[in-house]
Amino acid sequence: MHASVEEKEIIKGLHLETKEGEIHVLLGPNGAGKSILANVIMGHPGYSVTDGHLYFEEDDITEAKTNERGKKGLLLSNQAPEEIPGITMENFLKSTRTALTEEK
Ligand SMILES: Nc1ncnc2c1ncn2[C@@H]1O[C@H](COP(=O)(O)OP(=O)(O)O)[C@@H](O)[C@H]1O
Ligand SMILES: [Mg+2]
Repeated sequence: MHASVEEKEIIKGLHLETKEGEIHVLLGPNGAGKSILANVIMGHPGYSVTDGHLYFEEDDITEAKTNERGKKGLLLSNQAPEEIPGITMENFLKSTRTALTEEK
């Protein structure tokens, strides 16, 4: 997979496969592209996949919207989560469950 930001190629041919139940840690110097890779996997609109594909389980998600990726089970957690007044953790989790299961 190749990915770019503002026409600048940042990820220059990465092949990475992780199997169910495995835990992988990516280590690299500042500026290596770790955060961009995480954002590209979630479909951040600021980055574009210029070559190759992303698959989750059997599905090609290269063009999928971020919320569709989330429904499949992909999550990018925040290093420093924003505190949003009025949104409690309980309501956030309830809304997430409803979005996934369509059950109240
Ligand atoms: N919006 C952007 N425009 C141009 N270059 C960017 C942008 N965001 C990140 N970069 C560059 O992409 C490279 C990878 O950044 P990043 O993924 O944040 O690295 P890491 O998380 O591994 O420290 C860096 O050289 C950074 O300067
Ligand atoms: Mg980073």
